[in-house]
Amino acid sequence: MLVSAKEMLQKAKAGHYAVAQININNLEWTKAVLLTAEELRSPVILGVSEGAGKYMCGYKTIVGMVNGMLEELKITVPVALHLDHGSYEGAKACIAAGFSSIMFDGSHFSIEENIEKTKELVAICNEKGMSIEAEVGAIGGEEDGVIGTGECADPDECKMIADLGVSMLAAGIGNIHGKYPANWAGLSFETLDAIQQLTGDMPLVLHGGTGIPTEMIQKAISLGVAKINVNTECQLAFAAATREYIEAGKDQQGKGYDPRKLLAPGFEAIKATVKEKFEIFGSIGKADC
Ligand code: 13P
Repeated sequence: MLVSAKEMLQKAKAGHYAVAQININNLEWTKAVLLTAEELRSPVILGVSEGAGKYMCGYKTIVGMVNGMLEELKITVPVALHLDHGSYEGAKACIAAGFSSIMFDGSHFSIEENIEKTKELVAICNEKGMSIEAEVGAIGGEEDGVIGTGECADPDECKMIADLGVSMLAAGIGNIHGKYPANWAGLSFETLDAIQQLTGDMPLVLHGGTGIPTEMIQKAISLGVAKINVNTECQLAFAAATREYIEAGKDQQGKGYDPRKLLAPGFEAIKATVKEKFEIFGSIGKADC
């Protein structure tokens, strides 16, 4: 059964490790993440962006697929199904479809409007026993080939949003989605520290987990980060393994064109990437704590 992310993140914050949010893109992705979490006894959050939601035929399809897998694969570790960077409408659609967690990204609104909309969604999620993530300070990334720099959130605004009763808070600390440019300035630990001082026990979320050096990840966890989002890294690993298979001509040998064979190296590459993230984030074995 899907669970809210609230308890797993509170435990992670208290235990000084982070739970991975791995974004899913299709059936193979979902199966790879769930099996790895089960094998390593790690809690996990399956992230679904609105774009991936459309690609996978809508939120109801995803809820059906994930619930089916939890049962058929006999998954016993805590799993949350979470909307990533949700709009106000997307958040409501996921609540109705049976997700166990949502992110409402109101970072592009004025702080007043972000507060108003977050507050309304917090009340709905509380009533349904779901977790909710809010965001302050937009997280940059590549858009139309231009890489925007990650903003740093205002710690006072973070405190205002945290006080609305959200389960976790994403705050921009110079992180960006996708690959980091060579001249990236790194994470702003000063900002993170100031946010954690003001928000206390609130589990903080680090987006853009792909390509952040291990020492920076570990320092961020020591300063209150309890959830780290990873998407691009699994995509890169999947693509590289699939490319290798095709370039070796394996799709042309025997029944190598069968999707069950063709997609197998990519599937294994996702599993290996997820395992590495669990190791770095310190969540292995924490499903049973
Ligand atoms: P990356 O694609 O950079 O790993 O970021 C994922 C993310 O933050 C999803 O919200």
